[in-house]
Amino acid sequence: EKGGWPSFMAKEISEEPEAVANTVLGRTRDGQVVIPELEGLDDLFRGISRIVIVGAGTAAYSAFVGKYAIEQWARIPVEVELAHEFRYRSPLVGPDVLVVSISQSGETMDTLMAVKEATRLGAKTLSICNTQGATIPRESDAVVYLHAGPEVAVASTKAFVAQITGLYLFALHLGRVRGTVPAEVQAESIDELNTLPEKIRWILENEQEHIEQLAHWMADTRSVLFLGRHVGYPIALEGALKLKEISYIHAEGFAAGELKHGPIALVEPGLPVFVVVPSPSGAPELHSKVVSNIQEIRARGARVIAIAEAGDAAVLPFADEVLRIPLAEPLFEPILAVVPLHIFAMGLANAKGLDVDQPRNLAKSVTVE
Ligand code: F6R
Repeated sequence: EKGGWPSFMAKEISEEPEAVANTVLGRTRDGQVVIPELEGLDDLFRGISRIVIVGAGTAAYSAFVGKYAIEQWARIPVEVELAHEFRYRSPLVGPDVLVVSISQSGETMDTLMAVKEATRLGAKTLSICNTQGATIPRESDAVVYLHAGPEVAVASTKAFVAQITGLYLFALHLGRVRGTVPAEVQAESIDELNTLPEKIRWILENEQEHIEQLAHWMADTRSVLFLGRHVGYPIALEGALKLKEISYIHAEGFAAGELKHGPIALVEPGLPVFVVVPSPSGAPELHSKVVSNIQEIRARGARVIAIAEAGDAAVLPFADEVLRIPLAEPLFEPILAVVPLHIFAMGLANAKGLDVDQPRNLAKSVTVE
């Protein structure tokens, strides 16, 4: 069922555009986001004072991205917590808190136990899940299904972009109900969501070969760093996780602002560092901060691989490689910036001759605590 693709991972990365498009489908009405499954919950959404999102691994990174969107649009405080940490620290949640769980499989035991604990404490629970009828959605008060389609490769790729998309739709739905998102922001955001699939396709068509070539050259690399700021920070974490998982290379993701507080000591000549660069026009302040971070690591000999908006010339003097992504509003950029990182992790594992679909020591769904 790989349909001619060399691996499920390759097939699933190629399906990232559809994963986003299908998740948005049927969830907009007259220029507003309306998630039909959530109609009838308006009173609940108006009454809550806080949201806690729980998940594990890649799903938790999507939650970190979602936090920015929910806080910006729905103006409600969001905490993100690893499900297994939430479960065992006697969390302060009650009836005024909505606990959102995020899971591709819907069977992750750590996440399921967090949901059960939230219910026991009187919180309402919402599951954002890719697998119809799985245990976590069945144990939750409400569910929003993602429509990424079945994901077979152990490393999550298309589900990740669908998870961010699902969280953004939820944020816009919540913002509409709570009256915090002006109609024009709803409309513009829907336009952005609708253009993401073709932008992802642009990356696949124009950058995939370049990235795979780069991965091939880097097959002997021992260690790689990933840096990002704001919504680029969880993307750096995701890039590092994916590389560890399938290519067994030591990789770390950091918030770029944290560099000088420690991690910069790791930088030595030749160390490859991926940097997620914010949009120069959309987020000029963040952009210039990240460009100075690039200069700092470059001065210490790092090999900088920048993921930057097409047309961003400021990175050119300092980057050894530039992987281009199309223009998008800053909040939407993570869905594009992660695509080169997924391709890179797969390319490197392939270059090392590894089984990208079945990495050692890992299972597709982790049904033990
Ligand atoms: C990473 C990966 C894992 C899962 C995590 C949660 O590529 O696949 O980190 O994201 O085990 O799984 P779900 O989303 O099924 O709860």
